[in-house]
Amino acid sequence: MDNINREYIDEYINSLIKEDNEKLNKFRECCEERNLPIIHKEVGQFIKLIINQLNAKSIIEIGTNVGYSAIFMSKVMKDEGKVITFERSEKFYKEALKNIRDFGLDNNIQVYLGDAVNILDEIEGSFDMAFIDAAKSYYRIFFDKCLKMMKPGGIILSDNVLYQGMIASDELVVRRKKTLVRNLRNYLKYISHDERFVTSVLPLGDGLAVTLIK
Ligand SMILES: C[S@@+](CC[C@H](N)C(=O)[O-])C[C@H]1O[C@@H](n2cnc3c(N)ncnc32)[C@H](O)[C@@H]1O
Repeated sequence: MDNINREYIDEYINSLIKEDNEKLNKFRECCEERNLPIIHKEVGQFIKLIINQLNAKSIIEIGTNVGYSAIFMSKVMKDEGKVITFERSEKFYKEALKNIRDFGLDNNIQVYLGDAVNILDEIEGSFDMAFIDAAKSYYRIFFDKCLKMMKPGGIILSDNVLYQGMIASDELVVRRKKTLVRNLRNYLKYISHDERFVTSVLPLGDGLAVTLIK
């Protein structure tokens, strides 16, 4: 199981989403055929809403993979904004660079190769939005490092926070994922209870936490 919702609900919600950019649609299809872990369609639609609401022009992303979400977010910003994104796999990094060039977005998207845990500190700047979509055990570290660079009123999105339902139900937890589940539960408590933030956890895709920085 890759998702936390009933399939027919997901299918229906996704059938409502209209993406006019044919090249982007083809890119998504290609990623899906390869089973790459790109954002769920409905998560993309929610990201689109947030970018529009914030009128975001600067986004920091943890977890590039082959660049689908970075390209998608750049397109939502109508090629006027900047995305800074991090990928630790050299193979995916190279592929992302190629895809970004192919979409003509070299000037809009900057990809950093390396473990974001280590290289996030090298970044200077302030961001309207952050999108955390990488190693789940490190979400707290990613969040705190991004937090220092967020503009007031900015939003941090954390993807896959319900992790196939395991975060909400002990019955679903498989043994080898116990540490990850504990870390994600602690992370959700932190972003939900700290008075500096307002967080809503949505059962969208594999769970999306939306955190407003007050
Ligand atoms: C779920 S995929 C990202 C998908 C991408 N956001 C999209 O929707 O198109 C997660 C990616 O994060 C990378 N990753 C995991 N932990 C990382 C870390 N600590 N630093 C940098 N990249 C990391 C993985 O190699 C993987 O390619």
